[in-house]
Amino acid sequence: MSQLDAAVVFVRVAPEIPYCITRPGEEPAVTFPVELLECPRCAGAIGPATEAGELACVDCGRRSRTQPAGYLDMLGEPGRPDPAPPTPAQRLMESMQFVRVYETAMRPFFGRVFAGPGARIPTPEDEFGIYREWLGLAGSAGTWLDLSCGAGFFTRRMAEAAPRATVVGVDISTAMLERAAASYRTRPGVHFVRGDVRRLPFRDGSFDGVSNAGSLHLYADPDSAYRAVFRLLKPGGTYTASTFAESDRPIGRYAARLFGVRRTDLPGLPEALGKAGFVDYRQRTFGDAFVAGARRPE
Ligand SMILES: C[S@@+](CC[C@H](N)C(=O)[O-])C[C@H]1O[C@@H](n2cnc3c(N)ncnc32)[C@H](O)[C@@H]1O
Ligand SMILES: [Zn+2]
Repeated sequence: MSQLDAAVVFVRVAPEIPYCITRPGEEPAVTFPVELLECPRCAGAIGPATEAGELACVDCGRRSRTQPAGYLDMLGEPGRPDPAPPTPAQRLMESMQFVRVYETAMRPFFGRVFAGPGARIPTPEDEFGIYREWLGLAGSAGTWLDLSCGAGFFTRRMAEAAPRATVVGVDISTAMLERAAASYRTRPGVHFVRGDVRRLPFRDGSFDGVSNAGSLHLYADPDSAYRAVFRLLKPGGTYTASTFAESDRPIGRYAARLFGVRRTDLPGLPEALGKAGFVDYRQRTFGDAFVAGARRPE
């Protein structure tokens, strides 16, 4: 039996602590910041449900369940099947075999393939260094979102860069979230939530900054993701993302088609982000890979 199989999550409801989730091995219980959440169906507020381990929308009653692996599932509905992953790339993100070696082998491998031959892509640590600076993370006590957190590499680094902050990792993949949550037994300020970028279950203006590493190429509609991030940011909040630009290189185009990956029109990105409301665009390129940043105006 694996550690995860043996894990138990306790949820309790008390007047002074609206909602607690205890991840495996954690004591005392971690208070989940429910005030950040909203119902993905009707945008209503979220409160405790009668069933232990569940939250419910106070308006439409939609229920959400905490998972034994240590994340809150705001996407799957108890008793309803999940839709199938839409692309080969996303099927990989749902596979535990892939996820186990994602950070050590797959992320660097796909980074090199999609950045193009000879591109000097940054190490994950150096890539995070750009995020830390552009997001304005260091020493912050604010509230930060790691959008499409995957196995949690950036979430972990964000929590280390800002130990007094609240950091929420959100992803659609249960396998990625299991892996991410398993690395957080003793970090009370870090939370994992299952959600879809097409309807993120958070209230408007909740976050000081949003990181979005290595994920835009998996979204069906990146423009709607920019609008979603803008909605979630506080005025003055920062957004940093990394992905791959459109490329004429046959290998890059072939790999993108094979995996169902969408590359970004990089020259058009400042305008696309501007349309969503962002200002102060900045970018760094590494072959066809790039990091871009922008800010919600005050
Ligand atoms: C290549 S991984 C990047 C993970 C991590 N941010 C990193 O840089 O290592 C892309 C992530 O995007 C997530 N993703 C894909 N479609 C999504 C969606 N519709 N909503 C939320 N996350 C999504 C995948 O599940 C996957 O974990
Ligand atoms: Zn609702």
